[in-house]
Amino acid sequence: MCGIFGYIGEKPCASLLLEGLRRLEYRGYDSAGMAVLAPTLSIIKAKGQIAELAKKLKSTTPTGTIGIAHTRWATHGEPNEQNAHPHTCTHERIAVVHNGIIENYHALREYLKEKGHHFQSDTDSEVLAHLIGHFAKDEPDFFIAVQQALSEVEGAYGIAAIKEGRDEIIVARNGSPLILGIGDGEYFVSSDHTAINDHTKDIICLEDKDIARLTREGYTIIDMHNKEIHRDVEKITWDIHKIQLSGHDHFMHKEIIEQPETVANAFRGRLGKTAVKLDGLEEFKDFPFTRIRILACGTSYYAGLIGKYLFEENARIPTEVDYASEFRYRNPILSSDELVIAISQSGETADTLEAIRLAKKSTATFGIVNVVGSTIARQTKAGIYIHAGPEIGVASTKAFTGQVTCLYLLAIELRRRTHPADYLSRREELLAIPEKIKEILSHEEDIKAISKVYARHDNALYLGRGLNYPVALEGALKLKEISGIHAEGYPAAEMKHGPIALIDENMPVVFIATGDEVNYEKVLSNMAEVKARKGKIIAIASKNDIRLTKLADHIILVPKTTECLSPLLNVIPLQLLAYHMAVLRGKNPDRPQNLAKAVTVE
Ligand code: G6P
Repeated sequence: MCGIFGYIGEKPCASLLLEGLRRLEYRGYDSAGMAVLAPTLSIIKAKGQIAELAKKLKSTTPTGTIGIAHTRWATHGEPNEQNAHPHTCTHERIAVVHNGIIENYHALREYLKEKGHHFQSDTDSEVLAHLIGHFAKDEPDFFIAVQQALSEVEGAYGIAAIKEGRDEIIVARNGSPLILGIGDGEYFVSSDHTAINDHTKDIICLEDKDIARLTREGYTIIDMHNKEIHRDVEKITWDIHKIQLSGHDHFMHKEIIEQPETVANAFRGRLGKTAVKLDGLEEFKDFPFTRIRILACGTSYYAGLIGKYLFEENARIPTEVDYASEFRYRNPILSSDELVIAISQSGETADTLEAIRLAKKSTATFGIVNVVGSTIARQTKAGIYIHAGPEIGVASTKAFTGQVTCLYLLAIELRRRTHPADYLSRREELLAIPEKIKEILSHEEDIKAISKVYARHDNALYLGRGLNYPVALEGALKLKEISGIHAEGYPAAEMKHGPIALIDENMPVVFIATGDEVNYEKVLSNMAEVKARKGKIIAIASKNDIRLTKLADHIILVPKTTECLSPLLNVIPLQLLAYHMAVLRGKNPDRPQNLAKAVTVE
């Protein structure tokens, strides 16, 4: 949700900034811009994706070695050049890029207007440039001017600011992620480390309320108590090739194909012979929780719904799942014997983060997160990483299967504590999953052929029962996110209470029909109901299933596994179906309209 990148060093920075923005483009792609000290402030902005900014830079490339840049996901103000960052206070020759939302921007804007500031955009962010300018008028130290301005601001921000005549970048964070890259005589600032990875492996994750000054000679960080603070330099361990397309047309495709490996990464080193080894869970050995509550958004929420099933089925621990955004605003009742689990790929989703901050006031919190060192990972008492590597495609794929794998690990470990004899078979089934995913992926061409039949349809329905109901929700979400087709996921039996009204020969219905005996029979009846109304059926079915051939128009076969692990297989064809439908409709699956990868605003 908006990406920030900045550079200070000896190299001409325009092309570095552009490259940084390309890496961050998944965070937003409504407009982009940069400001370079050359040595006067040179600003270039463009509406649309980074490619548009690159075109403009061909004719005017600023030559300076200090610069800040931004790729935008619009919150306040429509996506156009005027609203693109950087925003400036022309009087004081200041430029600012911002990620987050300034909640009191309206009052600040009115105040600054009275003081003679002229606003150019409709954004909340522009007040930051003027507010800093307001203080910089009387304060020669730019760092202090930024500090003074931020003390007036309510809301979330990650910012980077530069001023003519000052060889420095001032950066600050509150609620929106910001990372420093520590190079040799050069320093970087970025919303995440994928953009820094090309230049240095040494990073510092700023904490909320930190303000830092970057010069060519070094950096200083001041914390919320106005004290200079040492923050540990961490090493980026993600490999550069993981953030390259490596022959795939899109990151989403690459990430779907990576899943045999990423699911294995989630359990590697954790599936002991007699128990699951989860350091994070060890932290809770003196906390006999009797309930679990899962908080998450988007795809991570659907993984959480599967988690509920896994915990209740395996460990018999009552589990509730909440959208983080709903939980935090409804005065929730939390008991001190609950373990609260936050699930998040990015570890930065604003609602999940605030929900976990609220929960930790009452009870213990646990994170299932992909991005190492992210805020949610640091805010929870303990947790486990899913180790999926960078997920660049906006629509989450490999993070979902990594999350479900981690939930399964937790569930079977909790069961093992009371039923040790059941552990080995559950372990063996999980170990077999990567090969089974490979087998499904080897049928990609068949799935693509089915996509061709339905790519021009406007609607689709996804139905599943039990823990394949959340898989249906996830399949529908993937399709609507990237293809522009309206899709709905429903519990199969609920179809009769509504969606059946929509079924005719133009409605493709995707059934997940791999359940246990009871679920399977019920799903077959639901299929017959669709068939009777001339709906088109695409069935995800277990290998050797011949009964379905009479009912389904298309069958995608998946290898057999246990009910609990079936989501890890069933979701794969749904991801491929959505991907190919989107491509066939001429969409870029990595840049779905209006969406952003990390939603760092509420
Ligand atoms: C956005 C992304 C989704 C993601 C959701 C939650 O909507 O586009 O792919 O599932 O945020 O993000 P998180 O990083 O917390 O899993």
